[in-house]
Amino acid sequence: MDFARMFYTYLPISLALYMITRHLIHKLLNFPPTPFPVIPLIGHLYLLKKPLQKKLSNLSELYGPVFFLRLGSRPVLVVSSVSAAEECFTKNDINFANRPQFLYAKYLGYNYNSIVWGPYGDHWRNLRRIASIEILSSYRLQKLSQIRVDEVQTLMHKLFISCTENKYRTLHLKPVLSELMFNVMTRMIAGKRYFGENSSKSEEAKRFQEIIAESSVLVGASNTGDFLPIVRWFVFNKMEKKLKKLHMKRDELAQKWIDEFRDKISDDSAESEDKSMIEILLSLQQREPDYYTDETIKSLMLALLQAGVSTSVDTMEWAMAFLLNSPNVLKKAQTEIDNCVSQHRLIDEADVSELPYLQCIIRETMRMCPVAPFLVPHESSMDSTVCGFHVPRRTMLLVNVKSIQNDPNYWEDPEVFRPERFEGFDKANVGFKWMPFGLGRRGCPGEGLAMRIVGLALGSLIQCFDWDRMGKEMVDVTTGGGGLTAPMAQPLVAKYRPRTTMLNLLCQI
Ligand code: HEM
Repeated sequence: MDFARMFYTYLPISLALYMITRHLIHKLLNFPPTPFPVIPLIGHLYLLKKPLQKKLSNLSELYGPVFFLRLGSRPVLVVSSVSAAEECFTKNDINFANRPQFLYAKYLGYNYNSIVWGPYGDHWRNLRRIASIEILSSYRLQKLSQIRVDEVQTLMHKLFISCTENKYRTLHLKPVLSELMFNVMTRMIAGKRYFGENSSKSEEAKRFQEIIAESSVLVGASNTGDFLPIVRWFVFNKMEKKLKKLHMKRDELAQKWIDEFRDKISDDSAESEDKSMIEILLSLQQREPDYYTDETIKSLMLALLQAGVSTSVDTMEWAMAFLLNSPNVLKKAQTEIDNCVSQHRLIDEADVSELPYLQCIIRETMRMCPVAPFLVPHESSMDSTVCGFHVPRRTMLLVNVKSIQNDPNYWEDPEVFRPERFEGFDKANVGFKWMPFGLGRRGCPGEGLAMRIVGLALGSLIQCFDWDRMGKEMVDVTTGGGGLTAPMAQPLVAKYRPRTTMLNLLCQI
């Protein structure tokens, strides 16, 4: 037999033997159930068709609430039950407090030194402390609440003046909600607004908008090189080049913010109560220049901007979609606001905590469509056990939050949008059944800010305008996105007009 014939005869047999042996060893070592076969090099990548969340839920029905995948070179644990999630974020919380090192985190996360992508350790702990205490604490958020109120009122004014007479007008919600959120965040971070009237010098605004557009394409885009290192090593990697370029643009802009503020910073601003985030960080730098380097400050500002905007925007868009499909809920929310706030003044941030039904709507939206359906991927730093199975170190953890939050074992009629189920909500009682912000050490530090701004913006839209669907058909609530994020597949378009009872007030904004 010549070599070529031998090769073609024995290769399939050897491959099959290799895959069977591997599967048996996997079982012997008590690893979690896993689909057969694991194909050399690509592992289970062949299984991952979009939509990813649905695919992983189907696999969980076959292999159980804790199963194992090998995505190229990466071992992955997928968890879809309350008890397994609880084990990951209680007894194994420190172990899973790492993040996988994805390529975009190398460039956009300052070489894995950002709060979102940094490994668990002293540097990350310190960034979390600064973010939670100095920037996102209730006290600090309260000091900057006027920014959020201003921006929401500006949006109400913009929507109002685009309406003529009392006719319905068409609105694409995502662009206006994104502008709102970017203005809120850039004003809170650096005292600048880049969209609409009185925005920063137009050249800089244009550059900022370009960066945002490029980031939205690259962040969250799946990169084969993250799973198949061979692609990253040997193939000319276009993605890496693009990320490097984008990082340079973002870094340049953030450096400009720092330089402008450093020139302005004075003893007065150190004392001022409503300091922007950058001023707080620069005053920390004055005290400890070796630790609070420009790079640390830039990485923190950009991470908060990145983490805070699309999550809040997508949540608001989902909430509006569900309200359009449930006119009774919309009416009930309007009545609650009219009774609590009256029609003589606009809703304020402090009102949000007095509007329980509005908060139920937001929580129900996040239950049905969490914008991070698997949280942000975690990674284990040592060997451990989850639900009795062995999980090796450096395993990526995906918690299928969307599946848990829509599981009929935990939620009655999970497919029905019913905000009332959150009446009397107590986070401690709901536990791991509802975790759109994650839980444990790596849980979202921006939850307080998110609930404030989403509540204020949504409440104002409901208070000021009547809303309707474009036609008789229900709004399509299919999920889109690359897998780890979950925006609406079809951007939301709706009809709106000012409420007659609000006309006087709207004319005065
Ligand atoms: C509706 C809005 C939001 C949702 C649904 C949301 C959700 C999440 C989720 C699921 C995670 C990952 C948790 C985990 O890995 O276990 C996360 C992390 C994070 N979020 Fe949010 N978030 C929102 C808004 C915000 C805002 C407004 C900010 C700040 C401005 C923020 C800052 C962060 C940061 C810094 C992290 C990384 C934490 C770490 O790795 O230590 N988020 N968020």
